[in-house]
Amino acid sequence: MNMPDIKKIKDEYLNKLDIDLNIESVNQIKTELFGKNGKISNSFKTLGSLPTDERKKFASDLNSIKDELQEKIDFKLQEIETKEINSKLENEKVDVTLPEREFSRGKIHPVSQVIDEISSIFSEIGFSVEEGPDIENEHNNFTALNTPDNHPARDMHDTFYLDNNKELLLRTHTSPVQVRTMLNGKPPFKIIAPGRTYRSDSDQTHSPMFHQVEGLHIDKDINMGHLKGCLNYFIKSFFEVDKIKMRFRPSHFPFTEPSAEVDIGYEMKDGKIVIGEGDKWLEILGCGMVHPNVLKNVKVNPDIYQGYAFGIGIDRLGMLKYGINDLRAFFESDYRWLNHFGFDPLDVPSNYRGLSR
Ligand code: DAH
Repeated sequence: MNMPDIKKIKDEYLNKLDIDLNIESVNQIKTELFGKNGKISNSFKTLGSLPTDERKKFASDLNSIKDELQEKIDFKLQEIETKEINSKLENEKVDVTLPEREFSRGKIHPVSQVIDEISSIFSEIGFSVEEGPDIENEHNNFTALNTPDNHPARDMHDTFYLDNNKELLLRTHTSPVQVRTMLNGKPPFKIIAPGRTYRSDSDQTHSPMFHQVEGLHIDKDINMGHLKGCLNYFIKSFFEVDKIKMRFRPSHFPFTEPSAEVDIGYEMKDGKIVIGEGDKWLEILGCGMVHPNVLKNVKVNPDIYQGYAFGIGIDRLGMLKYGINDLRAFFESDYRWLNHFGFDPLDVPSNYRGLSR
């Protein structure tokens, strides 16, 4: 190809590059000129066949044509890019004057927090967590727990019955989970069962719906010493204290023999309850050695197996630990209350060991 032809090509392509193009067509032009078989690339290939005296001039002309075209292509690509950015800026404008969207972060209810803490503490000493339904039958709630039909304890529980035959009810305690667990498995058993419980009762320290956690440990050689050790460990861990004053008071529950109620020592300092010191006592749970009749009712042989059980009021523990004095507020779903007493999901208390329900 001679120089005038090459110049023609140059003019032709400079014209082509003058009109409005997109990136693809510019790249297409680039290939047509400088690709493997491109028009300019091919012209360089003819250099070798030229006489030496012409070759130098031809090469230099060819190079400046190449540079001119290359420059134009670069300019064009730059121009397209700028245009694209500008149109994006134009169309995808962010209006920074808009007010930000409101957001609110939820809080963990103190009861959920306390249940998590309790589960975490007991799981450290080998208890697993069981659950049972809120709607129970009277057999699991009373009869299997050695509380027959005419037993005065039934009246004491102020039961919410769900039918006239008094067969279905809202469980009055978490103890029926003992029955369910033992009927569904084989000993040994080492469980806790936190959950909702119901009694027809309402004042500053009683709510018709409240929470308990049941504990049950059945094996071949479990005695009351284990019960004491377990509760002592739990109360110290829960209240985050090294020492605790604990008192076992003889009591009566149909499903345990012997039975006890446990009080912990406390005192008031600057209007706040301090657990583990002082000479005042506060009842926090019921417990005992599981009655042989209960074991028989769930097909566990009381001559081989025995153990302890306990029932703790969860809400009360939460009120004590976190200084909340009206139980009813727990269940009023007042956001202001929850914001004040609730827990930040990311703010982990020091004795929380990472277990979640
Ligand atoms: N269920 C009893 C209540 O609601 C508490 C309780 C006492 C549970 C003694 C137990 C126990 O497992 O052994 O008052």
